[in-house]
Amino acid sequence: ASTTEIDISAIQPGQAIKTSFRKQPLFVRNLTPAEIASADGVAASSLRDPQSLDERTKPGKKNWLITLGVCTHLGCVPLGAGEGENKGPFGGYFCPCHGSAYDTAGRIRQGPAPTNLAVPDYVFTSDTVVTVG
Ligand code: FES
Repeated sequence: ASTTEIDISAIQPGQAIKTSFRKQPLFVRNLTPAEIASADGVAASSLRDPQSLDERTKPGKKNWLITLGVCTHLGCVPLGAGEGENKGPFGGYFCPCHGSAYDTAGRIRQGPAPTNLAVPDYVFTSDTVVTVG
């Protein structure tokens, strides 16, 4: 299986980029302190797919949310990773196909998607490079 190296040095807090991994869309988001606080302010146990932001990120790198950009309902590409795109009512990503709304941890909060946006295997190979896969 192939890996993908991503230079994250230009992604500012509050920004997300859409890239690709094994021909699927991949989102890389640099969360602001407020976005981290928003995710942490929700009890994971209350969620449809119970996971904390800590479980979805790496230790000491909690601001880097890396997920597939594939809605877990029927596979559309959610909005929110591009300039001015609709992040939806929970501030993360919004799937325009049937209205699934994801929060700042990429967790499903509203709409038909059954599970959170998938987190791929990845490692930080430096402070500015992530190797996915
Ligand atoms: Fe995203 Fe249906 S494919 S809500």
